[in-house]
Amino acid sequence: MREQDLSLNRLFEEERPRIQRALEEAVGLLPAPVREIGAYVLLAGGKRLRPLMTLVSARLLGCNAPDLYRLCAVPEMIHAASLLHDDILDEADTRRGRVSAHTRFGLRPALLAGDAMLALADCEVTVFERADMVECVSDAMMRTVAGEAHEIALQGSLSHGEEEYIDMVTGKTGWLLRASCRLGALYAGAEARLVSALSDFGLYAGIAFQIVDDALDFADASVTGKPCGGDLREGKFTPPLMHYVGGLNERERAAFGEKFATGSFSEEEVARIAAIIRERGYDRATRSLADGYLRRAETCLAMLPETPERNVLREVIPFIRNREK
Ligand code: IPE
Ligand code: IPE
Ligand code: MG
Ligand code: MG
Repeated sequence: MREQDLSLNRLFEEERPRIQRALEEAVGLLPAPVREIGAYVLLAGGKRLRPLMTLVSARLLGCNAPDLYRLCAVPEMIHAASLLHDDILDEADTRRGRVSAHTRFGLRPALLAGDAMLALADCEVTVFERADMVECVSDAMMRTVAGEAHEIALQGSLSHGEEEYIDMVTGKTGWLLRASCRLGALYAGAEARLVSALSDFGLYAGIAFQIVDDALDFADASVTGKPCGGDLREGKFTPPLMHYVGGLNERERAAFGEKFATGSFSEEEVARIAAIIRERGYDRATRSLADGYLRRAETCLAMLPETPERNVLREVIPFIRNREK
């Protein structure tokens, strides 16, 4: 490939089959009773953004070892396991346009499959015999769990604002994107300031990724492959809903707050509020909130060597900003 031809889309296309092969190998290492569920969530669909970030981060810093794909599978396993557990927590019955794993296989087997995938991710990173990489992965898992738990603690309440929301999404989504970049940088043996620039890039990109995801929660389910208005049904006070509630009078706000706390909106109400959010552009306003974090991510890139891979990471910024699914 000529260097100037290196682009995010082209990389996605070219690398997906190799990432897929690494994931298939990982599925083969899962214990037999949960292997089918592991295959269901790991091998079908998904953008594969996290493994690509690991790959690009390592290459940016001069490493292109053949076992890089094995490393790339690690953040995707954590991602898939956290989605599986997340769909249980969120009672979401669709994911990637299909029934969610727990709906298809049952709650208890799905829970255990997620646990096995997390354990396998840890085992797979130990193969590299690098304590700093193991720490990176374990830290990311712990922060993701803490973020999800923080979100549950906030559920149904309208009393927190943007700052606490950002704190929560930094945990539940930012840390895994951070780890995806950091793993590649650590494996490349880069000096500390470069590892830290790539880690920060991943963290800010991850925060922005979740903000955009929360805008997309009110988009058409047939495009996103996830239920529309799930956050409203589940009592998650995300930026589009903060805008919506900001536009209500006191009486409307009290009525909204009661249904929000008890999760008792009808399907018609969910559809109506989702339509209002789109009509009034609250989803667009939410994407603008992501911009601040994307700008910080871009600043981190300036500290990295000027390589074709750095340009690919620069393309990740509008990819996150403008994604439709
Ligand atoms: C969805 O992540 C969950 C969030 C962290 C917001 P992705 O949108 O990356 O999910 P897939 O892997 O592409 O389905
Ligand atoms: C992101 O949370 C999932 C994790 C970080 C585990 P969401 O609940 O917002 O993600 P979706 O919308 O279900 O993909
Ligand atoms: Mg969810
Ligand atoms: Mg969730």
